[in-house]
Amino acid sequence: MSHYSKPRVPARPARPGQAEPLDFGNLAVRIIEALARIAPREKSPRQPLVEIVSAQVAGVSFANIGEPGLQLLEDWARSGARVRVPTFMNPCGMDTARWRELGISDDFARKQRRIIAALEQMGVTSSLTCTPYDGYLRPERGRHLAWSESSAVSCANSLFGARTNREGGPSALAAAICGRTPMTGYHLDENRVPTHVIRVTCPVVNEADFGALGLFVGQQVGGGVPCFVPLKESPPGVWRDMENLKALAAAMAASGAVALFHVAGVTPEAEKMADTLKGELTKRMAGLPEIVVENLRNSFCFPSLLRRSPAGRDEGWTRKAAHSAEAAVSAAKAGRKLDAVAIGCPHASLDEVRKVADLLRGRKVKTRLWVTTSRRTRDLAAAKGLCNAIERAGGKVLADMCLLVAPLAELGIAAVATNSAKTAYYLCARPAMSVCFGALEMCIKSAIVGEWRGRADDGRRTTDATLRSSDGSLRSTSRGILVADTDNHRLQLFRVNGWSDSPVN
Ligand code: F3S
Repeated sequence: MSHYSKPRVPARPARPGQAEPLDFGNLAVRIIEALARIAPREKSPRQPLVEIVSAQVAGVSFANIGEPGLQLLEDWARSGARVRVPTFMNPCGMDTARWRELGISDDFARKQRRIIAALEQMGVTSSLTCTPYDGYLRPERGRHLAWSESSAVSCANSLFGARTNREGGPSALAAAICGRTPMTGYHLDENRVPTHVIRVTCPVVNEADFGALGLFVGQQVGGGVPCFVPLKESPPGVWRDMENLKALAAAMAASGAVALFHVAGVTPEAEKMADTLKGELTKRMAGLPEIVVENLRNSFCFPSLLRRSPAGRDEGWTRKAAHSAEAAVSAAKAGRKLDAVAIGCPHASLDEVRKVADLLRGRKVKTRLWVTTSRRTRDLAAAKGLCNAIERAGGKVLADMCLLVAPLAELGIAAVATNSAKTAYYLCARPAMSVCFGALEMCIKSAIVGEWRGRADDGRRTTDATLRSSDGSLRSTSRGILVADTDNHRLQLFRVNGWSDSPVN
């Protein structure tokens, strides 16, 4: 590890009667060195560490890190540690200016502010957004980063061609302090090649379709690198639409651990893949499993809803019961009164804020409508009169925050509609939460009437699919995925998914 000079950070002196304090500057170095040591042996990394040009730190909400995390960050900041590269904060649990009107308690707000202050003291920009690439720093192709928000990581790798692993909050901060990260994982060429070919033979039209597709594919490929082959039946341009790809990235990172994907002919490292995939598959591609996604409309219940169906446990495991579970979900969801409609996961772009404003013109909402975005985007939207349009209708454009790390129980929010597959996925893992999922238009329509207005199957999406080897034979994965025939598609997918055990993080 002699390739770089360790940051010189003064250690905090011990107080009388206390153990020698940790040297938090050196702690950063030790974290990075330890991560480099325990990383899987790569073929031949030329160097153990690589210089980074930016970092992004997650674990900012007090709801996530609690007192121990707060103490750690304050100690780290007091030690004099400073970041060496532009470093950005992920969203926290509240709008830092409007928390009172949201009903956030003084106690939560005070602790939340201390977290932000500690990070600022270390030089981290209080961007408080999961889309730093939108207005703060656009990642450049081939540059190395240490980002930690999973959807931002996937977008940086896939849509911009930059290189970052899925860092944890502390490891991203340590990398920012050292200006280095281990040269492993997605920093290396050999780990950026596709592991699965995904052929989508049904149309995907909007962000909810892409999100549903992402949830499904993430579960099938885990930490793999899927390569999507765009489909002619989809409207032109949908596979190049940033909002759709952002939804796809966020969902795959949530249900699986996808940190990099390719879209043949579209994403930076797959510009030429479309030609490769059109004709005969190349040797490398020929060895890959292929997933054919045939239907995004008809076959999925979110597990928490499935668990709540009157017939009790496990009814998704037989075809007959799957139907009754669907009926139960439909009944539970039709006209479901909503506590909130959440838009902006990942954080809404200016275009998305504009769409919400357009859909609301002249209308009033009957439930909370929260559009979460970055402060910069909100300022831009405000300058264009979009925030006013939304707020006149009763909605709120909120900066700095993420619904998933806000104190929802404290706010009395137990039924949420969203156009974000990622939000839906994680909220469904919470026992007392009811979740409706559909496209933006449906969500806004529901906000206006105060209850879910989706059709029965708008809340239940994912996919029928087959997993085949390149020779056409059906194959299973380590999770036992296998679809034997059309009639059994649904059942096998339910069995395979195992959603209910997915952790929230
Ligand atoms: Fe961003 Fe929170 Fe969604 S961090 S991606 S708004 S879960």
